[in-house]
Amino acid sequence: MLGRQFPLLALLAVATAPMAAQTPPATPDSATVAAGKKLFQGAGLCFSCHGMNGEGMLGPSTILNADKTKWLHHDGSWDAITKLITDGVDGVKSTSGQIMAPRGGSNLTDAQVRQVAAYVVMLHRTRPT
Ligand code: HEC
Repeated sequence: MLGRQFPLLALLAVATAPMAAQTPPATPDSATVAAGKKLFQGAGLCFSCHGMNGEGMLGPSTILNADKTKWLHHDGSWDAITKLITDGVDGVKSTSGQIMAPRGGSNLTDAQVRQVAAYVVMLHRTRPT
C-alpha cells in the first residue's frame, strides 16, 4: 500500500518544493481558492468587469502574464489583494479612469472577500493561458 502511494507523494514533493522557496508565506489552501472562484464568477460580480477567468474586460486583467507583467494596485500578496478588493479602486487611484466600488459593488462578507482574494492569488501564480 505504501508502495502505491509513494510515487504520488514524491511527485507532490517535487512539484511544491521550488514554489515554496519563492512564494510569500500566506498561501491559500485549495478549498478556499475553489470557494473564491465561485464567488468571482458569481455573487462577487467580479466576472462582469474582469472576465470569467480574470482575463480582463472593463476592469484590468487579474492575471499577470506576458500581456501584463506588473500589478497596478498591490504587491500580489494575499493580504494586499484582500485589502484592494475590500477598498476598491477610486477615481484618484485608478490608472484608467474606470473605478471599482468597494468589494466590486457586491455584498460579499469579509470572509468571502478573503476567499475571492485567494482565487486571484492563485490565478496569478498558476498563470493559465
Ligand atoms: C465595475 C467593474 C468592476 C467590478 C465589478 C470589479 N472590479 Fe476589480 N477593478 C476594476 C477596475 C476599473 C480596476 C482598476 C483599474 C485601473 O486602475 O485602471 C480594478 C482593479 C482590480 C484589481 C487590481 C488589479 C491590479 O493590477 O492591481 C483586482 C485584484 C480586482 N480589481 C479584483 C476584483 C474582484 C476580486 C472583484 C469582485 C469582488 C472585482 N475586482 C470587481 C473594475 C471592477
